[in-house]
Amino acid sequence: MENKTYNTMGSEVLEGFTCKPKKLDPDKPIMFFKTQIFICDGERCSKAQKDDDLAGRLRGILKELQLHKGKNRIKISRTNCFGACRFRQVAVAFENTKANGNLENNNIWLKNIHKFDDIKWKELFLDLSTDKPLDELSYEQVPMSGLDE
Ligand code: FES
Repeated sequence: MENKTYNTMGSEVLEGFTCKPKKLDPDKPIMFFKTQIFICDGERCSKAQKDDDLAGRLRGILKELQLHKGKNRIKISRTNCFGACRFRQVAVAFENTKANGNLENNNIWLKNIHKFDDIKWKELFLDLSTDKPLDELSYEQVPMSGLDE
């Protein structure tokens, strides 16, 4: 009997993959998200991180919290260096302003995320699922100088 696997978009996936669709539709829109978190996977940040599959682990936590789909969906993406390596490991979370209006304060740069345990990640995800301004969340942020300095 053949075992078929489907990704969160409902497409059948290639054997050995968790999300790569069997049939590629180049015009299929990406799935809606409220918040996207870019996890830095650059050389310096990835050295600080002991978990080889942090993005996979975080996606699992999001599933557990039911924040992997729906109107409060949080999308996890890996990316390369943000140019803020001294604050490693860095992640940037931003709100989808197409969905929630043009919030003035729609992103935060998080530092030292390699020190986050699952409890801290859950707390962050639940905070991000609210409409609280991101600057009001109590997480260590990468300091940024002002435009006028
Ligand atoms: S490697 Fe992550 S900010 Fe540079």
